[in-house]
Amino acid sequence: MFEEAQLYSPVTTGAGGEVTVHLHDGHPGANDPDYRRRRNEIAATALAWRPGEPAPRIDYHADEQEVWRTVWRKLAPLHDRLAVDEFREALARLALPSDRVPGLDEVSAPLVTTSGWSYVPAAGLVDLRTFYAALGDRIFHSTQYVRHPAMPLYTPEPDIVHEVVGHGHLLATPTFGELHRRAGAAAVRLRDEASLRFLSRVFWFSLEFGVVVEDGELRAYGAGILSSYGEIEQFRAMELRPLHLREMGTVDYDITKYQPTLYRAESVAEIEEVVGGFFDTCTDESIQEVRREHAVA
Ligand SMILES: [Fe+2]
Repeated sequence: MFEEAQLYSPVTTGAGGEVTVHLHDGHPGANDPDYRRRRNEIAATALAWRPGEPAPRIDYHADEQEVWRTVWRKLAPLHDRLAVDEFREALARLALPSDRVPGLDEVSAPLVTTSGWSYVPAAGLVDLRTFYAALGDRIFHSTQYVRHPAMPLYTPEPDIVHEVVGHGHLLATPTFGELHRRAGAAAVRLRDEASLRFLSRVFWFSLEFGVVVEDGELRAYGAGILSSYGEIEQFRAMELRPLHLREMGTVDYDITKYQPTLYRAESVAEIEEVVGGFFDTCTDESIQEVRREHAVA
C-alpha cells in the first residue's frame, strides 16, 4: 500500500545543484530518458521559485500540449454528464484554455478575484503539514509537469491536469473550495502525525474521490475522479458505502490503482455536515478516540 507521502515522486537536489525527480519503477515514464530530463527541468524551476514572486511560466512542448488537449476533449462530455452542478458552473466561470496548458498565474487570476485562492508551484513532494497549512490560507501547492504522453488518460501522480482541471475548478466553487480551506484549518490544529494522516484520508475519500447524489443521480465531486478519464467512467460501478468518518480515516488505499471503494453522500448538505463538520471540530484527542474505537472494532 502506498502512503500519502508517495503520492508525489520525491525530488532531490545533488551536491552540484542538479535536481532529480525519482520516478518509481512502474511509472509510465520510468524508462524514458527524455521524459525524466523534462521532469527534472520542471522541478528545478519550481525549486528556484521564492514566495512573493509570480509563479514561473513553463514553455510546454508540443507533446505536453497534446496531452492537455486529449484529456480535456475526453473529460468535457463526461463532466457535463457526471460532475456536480457547482463544478460545472465553475468550468464555465473560470473558462480555462482547453487547447493549451495554462500557466499557474492564469489559473490564479480568476480564482483570486472570486474565491480568494492562488496557486504556487511545487516541485513534487510537498509534506502533508505544509500542503494542508497552505490550504488553510487558500494557497494551493501545484505541480506543473504533465503526465507521460504514453498514458494521457491516467497518471499515478498528481500532475498539472489533476491540480488544475480537478482541484482548480473545485476551488472556484463555494462549497468545495471552502471544504479545502476547512481541511487546511483543521490540519493546523493537529500536532500528532497519526491525526494528520487520518485527516488526509478523510480528505482523500471526499475531496479527492467523493461522490454524491444530486438531482437523483450519482455525481462526482472528488478532484481525483474529475481529472481522471478512467475513474470518471467507472465510478458508478464501484462499491459505494455511506459516508463514515472512522472508515474513511483508517482505510488504506493505493494511489496507483483505481479506487475500488468510494464513499457516497446523499446530498451536498451531507458532505458539508459530516466532512465539513469533522474538519471544523476535529482535534488530536477526538481523532485518537476514533482510532481507538477502530482498533477494537
Ligand atoms: Fe489532488
